[in-house]
Amino acid sequence: MSYEEEYKKSIEDPAGFWSEKAEALDWYKKTDNVLSTDDDGIYHWFSDWELNTSYMALDYHVKNGRGDQAALIYDSPVTDTKKTYTYNELLAEVEKTAGMIASLGIAKGDTVVIYMPMIPQAAIAMLACARIGAIHSVVFGGFASAELAVRIDDAKPKLILSASCGIEITKVIDYKVLLDKAIDLAKHKVGNCVIYQREQFKADLIDGRDLDWQGLLASATPHEPVPVKGIDPLYILYTSGTTGKPKGVVRENGGHAVAMKYSMNAVYDTDPGEVYFAASDVGWVVGHSYIVYGPLLQGCTTIFYEGKPIMTPDAGAFWRVISEHKVKTLFTAPTAYRAIKKEDPDGELTKKYDLSSLVNVFSAGERLDAYTYQWINDVLGVPVVDNWWQTETGWAIASNLIGIEVMETKPGSATMPSPGFAIEILDDEGNRLENDEGNIAIKLPLPPSCLATIWGDTQRFVDGYLSDFPGYYTSGDGGYFDEDGYLFVMGRTDDVINVAGHRLSTGEIEECISSHPDIAECAVIGSHDDLKGQIPVGFIVLKANSDKDDETISKELVSLVRDKIGPIVCYKDSHLVKRLPKTRSGKILRKTIKAIVDGNSYTVPATIDDPTSLDEIKDVLA
Ligand code: COA
Ligand code: AMP
Repeated sequence: MSYEEEYKKSIEDPAGFWSEKAEALDWYKKTDNVLSTDDDGIYHWFSDWELNTSYMALDYHVKNGRGDQAALIYDSPVTDTKKTYTYNELLAEVEKTAGMIASLGIAKGDTVVIYMPMIPQAAIAMLACARIGAIHSVVFGGFASAELAVRIDDAKPKLILSASCGIEITKVIDYKVLLDKAIDLAKHKVGNCVIYQREQFKADLIDGRDLDWQGLLASATPHEPVPVKGIDPLYILYTSGTTGKPKGVVRENGGHAVAMKYSMNAVYDTDPGEVYFAASDVGWVVGHSYIVYGPLLQGCTTIFYEGKPIMTPDAGAFWRVISEHKVKTLFTAPTAYRAIKKEDPDGELTKKYDLSSLVNVFSAGERLDAYTYQWINDVLGVPVVDNWWQTETGWAIASNLIGIEVMETKPGSATMPSPGFAIEILDDEGNRLENDEGNIAIKLPLPPSCLATIWGDTQRFVDGYLSDFPGYYTSGDGGYFDEDGYLFVMGRTDDVINVAGHRLSTGEIEECISSHPDIAECAVIGSHDDLKGQIPVGFIVLKANSDKDDETISKELVSLVRDKIGPIVCYKDSHLVKRLPKTRSGKILRKTIKAIVDGNSYTVPATIDDPTSLDEIKDVLA
């Protein structure tokens, strides 16, 4: 079937299309109810079908002869460790870990927070929760205690699974100290914490609350998969919105499994038995979808990499992994390719390795700029596919659907909408635009796997995503279709920024900075950065009675942001100004500030209160 035929079918008959795709999975129960709406008018896929995602990802493959095939290869240059888990072995670990969690009173529908580094136990913990029908919420290790505390208060876990430490390039991060502080900060009282003690650093356990993972696991009884409904949540994953409070994206079991399985062929053209390497972290959506669930639901071998694209030990790190484990598909963020390009501009290190297994390279997380696209193409000599997606969707909204039909690539474009995504470009009043830039909106129903709600706050889901343009999901991204129907995603239309593929809210950074006792107000914008895509830059107004100098306040703000949100924000630049450029109604002119910082042209908004405030921005940057 051509892409056009496949796409048309998915839009004209969504229920028929996706029920056909659902046949590829081993359900406990199927019904005629493929697409339904709830009392709030929100769509759900496969609501009363029954499945277990962990069963589909593990037991099914063992039953079908893949038991001895590698399921997960842990490759950790930071600890000099490599370990392969076959499907038999991974299943055995997950069964016991599920038993361990169940023995602590965790059952279907309970929430479990997972705060772990990139060790196999993180994936095992996710699959173990899925096995007993518990809802996991993985929190990225680069977030500080206060961020973890916010997520604990929102997800209200009965149990936290964590590890003694994470390993960054040159340092050991004491996860337990971060976890203890988060638990102190949180209002919600957690039952137990199970801590995986790593060799590199052993944590002190708190009596009566903390339990030793390895000790508990040794006596755990393997647990059978528990059937859940399609509509039952598999996980909550928090992502940044425009306010300081992160949004808990809820992913349901049924639609997620169908979309993951489908995308492994349609988007990634990767078959069972092939090796898939998503260089990300389980704390992000790419990690959920394409380090853990997608490749395992497809019966692939997934690479679980604990390292960086550079410095572990050099910019040939990914090429080593590809050659050693015969990777067919590589998927990472543009920032990782740019980091490699910076260290090894001519791709000399690719020549050290046999990369003949590599067939396709994928990029997502931020716009793949034309230079980076060309560079990957030149040094690797394989097709490069840009995917546009969001935590909310869980899989690519647009891509070159190479598993259906290979289309010509246009650098800078994410190519065409994926089946099921009825993308339209709308102006601010909701009128449809042709070949013009505007808000990228998706006509409802969204295809399977897309968020079903915001955890505990359906109104926030409706207000944040479904109200701007009735009948559509608002993506928060702006862009356009060219005359050939290629989609160009140009960037966020809201206050979300993207730092090294990490999604952050400038509103949240502003809230954090404003909590400093010397700060009257501030504006944070995402300024262009050649390596990380964007980095946050703050413009700060001090309180009249503050006697702090620039250097002192800048240092204090750097540590405040690291301490409250986390080091991944990479907040380093603060500029002190007397006032912020605002409209007469008091709205800060962030877009204009950003244009000045990036050296782009801009027109002074007619509504500006005091045009000389822009001169001050230029002066502090000079
Ligand atoms: N746990 C604890 N700290 C973490 C962390 C984790 N899991 N991940 C990052 N950090 C810390 C780093 O140690 C660093 O701290 P520092 O300021 O004290 O040095 C800070 O957060 C910033 O880290 P990072 O964004 O990784 O920047 P970097 O300069 O160390 O590395 C890149 C730059 C481009 C190599 C790196 O950002 C990268 O690999 N990016 C790929 C992005 C990606 O996979 N995104 C996922 C979405 S697809
Ligand atoms: P996240 O939810 O962390 O995956 O971030 C989603 C946001 O990243 C999107 O809303 C986009 O702004 C940006 N993004 C992700 N992939 C792409 C892409 N291929 N092209 C352009 N922007 C992208």
